[in-house]
Amino acid sequence: TRLVVLVSGGGTNLQALLDASARDPKEFGATVVAVGADRPGVAGLERAERAGVPTFVCQVRDHTSREAWDAALADRVAAYEPHLVVSAGFMKILGKEFLTRFGGRVVNTHPTLLPSFPGAHGVRDALAYGVKVTGCTVHFVDEGVDTGPVIAQGVVDVRDEDDEALLHERIKEVERALLVDAVGRLARHGHRLVGRRVLIP
Ligand code: GRF
Repeated sequence: TRLVVLVSGGGTNLQALLDASARDPKEFGATVVAVGADRPGVAGLERAERAGVPTFVCQVRDHTSREAWDAALADRVAAYEPHLVVSAGFMKILGKEFLTRFGGRVVNTHPTLLPSFPGAHGVRDALAYGVKVTGCTVHFVDEGVDTGPVIAQGVVDVRDEDDEALLHERIKEVERALLVDAVGRLARHGHRLVGRRVLIP
């Protein structure tokens, strides 16, 4: 299974996918064939280069509109003929054109237990709300923000001494393993959708 991974930042989730495919591509069932970013110079791109994986950058500001960017991003991704696209800390919302072309094959990871606390500040919002358990969600992307069908979730306890950074670090430990497991299972077994429920045989 061919994966294109999209990143905007540090890329530790990407690294977990790179490590899993380097360790034993057969057992994992998937290979990262390219990594894209919405800005140059992010650590995720360096991680890809170090692993010998091709990279590309597609910036909104190099395009005349958000729609034109979205279509260009879809073209860049399509060139690698992925079976699955993984948004791993990609901080842009994928548009209509992108989802029309890759609809149902785009996986995102989010650092809360959806549908609680969607959006860019989920960890902060969960902490501020005062929840005692939170976690992370791997889900398919639809046209909403963090609203698509849930593939897998992991649970993390909130501690009294947590701040946003501490809590996010513990969530990310669970998140990386969850993402690798979910992507691997999707790659090896496929899935079916029953309503909103994602069933992996
Ligand atoms: C992850 O927690 C992801 O869910 C969130 O940002 C973080 C990205 O981390 N949106 P990294 O770039 O994979 O290290």
